[in-house]
Amino acid sequence: MTRLGILASGRGSNFVAIERACRMGRVAATPSVVISNRADAPVLEKARRTGVEAVSIPFPQDDPEAFERPAVQILKKRGCDWILLAGFMRILSPYFLAAFPERILNIHPSLLPAFPGLHAQRRALEAGVDQTGCTVHFVTEEVDAGPIVDQITVPIFPGDTEESLSARILQREHELYPRAIKKLVES
Ligand code: GRF
Repeated sequence: MTRLGILASGRGSNFVAIERACRMGRVAATPSVVISNRADAPVLEKARRTGVEAVSIPFPQDDPEAFERPAVQILKKRGCDWILLAGFMRILSPYFLAAFPERILNIHPSLLPAFPGLHAQRRALEAGVDQTGCTVHFVTEEVDAGPIVDQITVPIFPGDTEESLSARILQREHELYPRAIKKLVES
């Protein structure tokens, strides 16, 4: 069975969607461990509740390897085949990327290459476009610029706020991430 390692910094709704898809047999994979850079991230509790190992390791801005060395060790020991960033708010160094070549995915709340980086939903609203979306892509050194695995388009309606738009995109993220993982692990 394909083993997934998840890196997340916060709420963990994408982790929940992935875990459920695996448990229901919709994706032939199993989440082995969740690692967060924040000890108080709700994702850790969500993982433990579903019986998934949850670990927190501080990630100092000026010393990524202080996080990455122990993280790589844990992910390798658990035999993780794919690494999934799900709301992971740190930039990984070449050291981490080299440990899992072409096996690290990220989900981003826009139709990349449009609106990479932070506040993608707010920037889509400000740009006045009438649609945006979400993207699963391979992680490379350049932030939010790796090869695209899959995308879903989401409409923007008059009167949308950052909150309403973010919620509409998030719903589709929960569909997209399991679908993208399925495509890669079952191919
Ligand atoms: C999602 O919007 C994702 O696209 C972005 O961070 C958010 C994470 O949400 N990278 P959650 O922690 O999975 O609920």
